[in-house]
Amino acid sequence: MTARRQAQNLLDFIDAAPSPWHAVGVIEQRLQNYGFERLDENSQWQLSSGGRYYVVRDASSLILFVPGQKPLAETGFKILGAHTDSPGLRVKPNPLMHSDNLLRLAVEVYGGPILATFTDRDLSLAGRLAYQEDDGSVSSCLLNFPQALLRLPNLAIHMNRAVNEDGLKLNKQTELAAIFAAYAEQQLPPTYFQVLLERASGIKAEQILSWELNLYDTQKGSFWGAEQEFIANSQLDNLASCHAGLTALLDETILNSDASLVCAFFDHEEIGSESKQGAAGSFLPDVLQRIVGNVDQQPDAWQRVIANSFMISADMAHAYQPNYPAAYEPGHKISMNQGPVIKVNANHRYATDCLSEAQFISYCRQADVPYQKYSHRGDLPCGSTIGPIASAKLGIRTVDVGNPMWAMHSIRESAGVQDHHYMIRVLSCFFRS
Ligand code: CO
Repeated sequence: MTARRQAQNLLDFIDAAPSPWHAVGVIEQRLQNYGFERLDENSQWQLSSGGRYYVVRDASSLILFVPGQKPLAETGFKILGAHTDSPGLRVKPNPLMHSDNLLRLAVEVYGGPILATFTDRDLSLAGRLAYQEDDGSVSSCLLNFPQALLRLPNLAIHMNRAVNEDGLKLNKQTELAAIFAAYAEQQLPPTYFQVLLERASGIKAEQILSWELNLYDTQKGSFWGAEQEFIANSQLDNLASCHAGLTALLDETILNSDASLVCAFFDHEEIGSESKQGAAGSFLPDVLQRIVGNVDQQPDAWQRVIANSFMISADMAHAYQPNYPAAYEPGHKISMNQGPVIKVNANHRYATDCLSEAQFISYCRQADVPYQKYSHRGDLPCGSTIGPIASAKLGIRTVDVGNPMWAMHSIRESAGVQDHHYMIRVLSCFFRS
């Protein structure tokens, strides 16, 4: 498939996934097209080598795996890890604010978004809600308002004369309430928000009990640049890595290979991964232990499998933006469309070590793909990924990599068309080797 086609597929994937819950739903659909079977954590598992399985925890994290033909203790797992969540704004439990003939929606900041980029965008709501069934049990469903529903209008420059000198600063408590209706009547029905949710979901307002909803940008992904060599969309961090891993793995020759393959897509990376479905939780160890217990009853099977396993933690990386030279480490400028980035940090904010780095380079060489090495400025705090967290928890050698991008955590991020193609090629080589 051409690089352009793959990038278009990525943009379509993101446009269909306006929340982490939708991302898992879209991944699930693709897996079902390839004959993957969904396993429940509360049922007994009967696994066979060559089978195709996936597990979902709390609707926002998904692990898929293919037990290989060769003994697992000899091959170990080949694991690709990435995250499904992106920083942004989430709706508060009592969201309605009624004043000045307007309704506004109270929001809470999730993770570390660039808040200024959320202003003057055609925003809407997506996520999930839980409701009571007629028999009293609780169910949940996805919810998406496809039309623009909300907006954070900027203050005019006549009232904010210093905005271009001081930057756009937004108070998280007082200046982020999103405007969503002109409403003049004195009395607001107490279930007005639930009525809106009913309109979008078909679930009766009085049955709706709770929700997790994030604001998203309704603008679709696009190509840009003189040769259309760049892409722009929300959530490139880190749905681009999920998409690259999935595209590489969903290939019949790879799915029928000898090795045991795993993709782990986690929620909650942007808030530290400490949750039941996050990378610091028990989800990945639980799933891997069940696979090992199912296929190998030797007392030391687990340790042997772990010692032979390898993980690629894929999360986006910072491309050099020449308008801001002072923000970057001058010896490690990352160029767009020049290949995947290996992230190295001596203090282990990235899990990369000498050998995992070398291993990834050898995959790049086999795939005939260029690569770049990133080190953060010494006088700026470095971000982190799921890599060190999952690697420490499991004891699996791990490399942290990711594709170059600009404006990480903006609601409109940019990346390179060719880089996405390169990453898919390297990951194919990793799964195939
Ligand atoms: Co990320």
